[in-house]
Amino acid sequence: MNMHINRLRDSAATHKTIPFPVTARAPRLAPIPNDTPPAISVIGLGYVGAVSMACLSELGHPIHGIDLDMNKVDAINDGRAPIVEAGLEDMLQAGIGNGLISASRNFQQAVADTDVTFVSVGTPTSKDGGCDLSYVVAAARSIGEAIRHKSSYHVVVMRCSVPPGTTMDTMVPEIEKASGKTLNNEFGICFNPEFLREGTAVADFYEPPKTVIGASDCRAAEVLAEIYRPVDTTPLIVTIAAAEMVKYVDNVWHATKVSFANETGRFCKALGIDSHEVMNVFVQDQKLNLSPYYLKPGFAFGGSCLPKEVRAMEHLATQLGIKTPLVKSLTPSNLAQVEIALDMIEATNRKKVGFLGVTFKPDTDDLRESPTLDVMARLHDDGYEITAYDPNLTESTDLNSQLNYISGARPELAGVIDALDHTLTDSVCQLVGNCDVLVVSHKSELYRQAVQSRRPGTQVIDLVRLFDDLPDDSGYQGISW
Ligand SMILES: NC(=O)c1ccc[n+]([C@@H]2O[C@H](COP(=O)([O-])OP(=O)(O)OC[C@H]3O[C@@H](n4cnc5c(N)ncnc54)[C@H](O)[C@@H]3O)[C@@H](O)[C@H]2O)c1
Repeated sequence: MNMHINRLRDSAATHKTIPFPVTARAPRLAPIPNDTPPAISVIGLGYVGAVSMACLSELGHPIHGIDLDMNKVDAINDGRAPIVEAGLEDMLQAGIGNGLISASRNFQQAVADTDVTFVSVGTPTSKDGGCDLSYVVAAARSIGEAIRHKSSYHVVVMRCSVPPGTTMDTMVPEIEKASGKTLNNEFGICFNPEFLREGTAVADFYEPPKTVIGASDCRAAEVLAEIYRPVDTTPLIVTIAAAEMVKYVDNVWHATKVSFANETGRFCKALGIDSHEVMNVFVQDQKLNLSPYYLKPGFAFGGSCLPKEVRAMEHLATQLGIKTPLVKSLTPSNLAQVEIALDMIEATNRKKVGFLGVTFKPDTDDLRESPTLDVMARLHDDGYEITAYDPNLTESTDLNSQLNYISGARPELAGVIDALDHTLTDSVCQLVGNCDVLVVSHKSELYRQAVQSRRPGTQVIDLVRLFDDLPDDSGYQGISW
């Protein structure tokens, strides 16, 4: 049994959500000793539900679909696809033919007669721009009523895209209230985001980009992992809230990519450059462009290139008279990260602040446009006593040319630059001994040890995720975790 499932097991008895981190792909899960695939009910027979029911039946599961819309129910029972999707109708007909697929409006019987219920009702945008959860709430209530008199364990699998927290804070209370049963005893719940693309949904089911299972307990996770085993033996098992967030983050990322490509196209067209030639080159860089690089939350970007080139592109857009709101949002977004760091430091109400790392990133002596210097400058001007350590800024470092460059472009840094000689220390121990707040700007083993050996009461503001496993320590705060 793999580690992640064991962790689920340990926490299952005690609590609803499991405080385990997003995992790497889990090794193959142990099969459940049961030859009969669990029977599944699917609530909501639209784009997601209809494809799920057809594909799951093809894996051998008896499937009963439920929808309030009688047209969809009739279509399924007649072997007609209720939506346009390649291959779907043939699969539905096969499922009807071999007796594995049926549909109705009868929640009570469908849920009571199955082991697992997939929920794929709509979650449209509400009038205030949020997410309309009315269909989810109604479905949860119906599931609760249907499992009220059921004697066996039931697993609810939430497939809808919803704001994080919805499954545990909205669905579970509705199910518990309507059923009189308690989570992780008589029923379990999973959040299993759907990544299908309409048009290739059936093919995507058999070759998913990933399978994510957020689970309330190990039993529910095992049941769902076993259902997906024929198409993915290494599901990512995470907390329910992380699984909910993954779905939103994925789609926002896809939207960001589309908008980025389109803004690039606007630049290129205005400049007479073939945008597809540019992006064909762009996508070939899988080391920095299309890769995990730059995709972990942390501190603001800086250095001699990124801020300057973003400004240059903003300027170019204005000159060309083209609309590039995404590119123009980058500098404000970056400055917001600097403001957040400042707010966190100010909220400690301590005045002696030590910085572990000053240059714009580790392993360089380049101070130009280091966002850490921006933070130091504001604190310096506001009368804080600041000390900084950086192994790459030593007496032999020629800071003059960099400082001249910075003070010309960024006059607001003049004060902290003048004081830099006195601010820098060559002893981490001294810094840790003298400061009430440690701001970690670079990741290093030396700083990990410094944070761990600090005086009691010293606050830590971590801008770089110094530890993989977050410290259970009230004096420690991460900027985005
Ligand atoms: N369409 C996609 O490509 C896609 C992909 C990933 C995730 N999702 C998410 O999956 C969910 C479903 O999306 P969809 O596109 O399949 O929606 P859809 O509107 O096509 O289908 C929803 C179905 O649910 C039915 N329904 C609503 N309330 C019901 C209830 N109480 N009981 C029974 N049936 C009920 C509706 O009649 C409808 O047939 C949404 O949260 C969506 O964001 C959709």
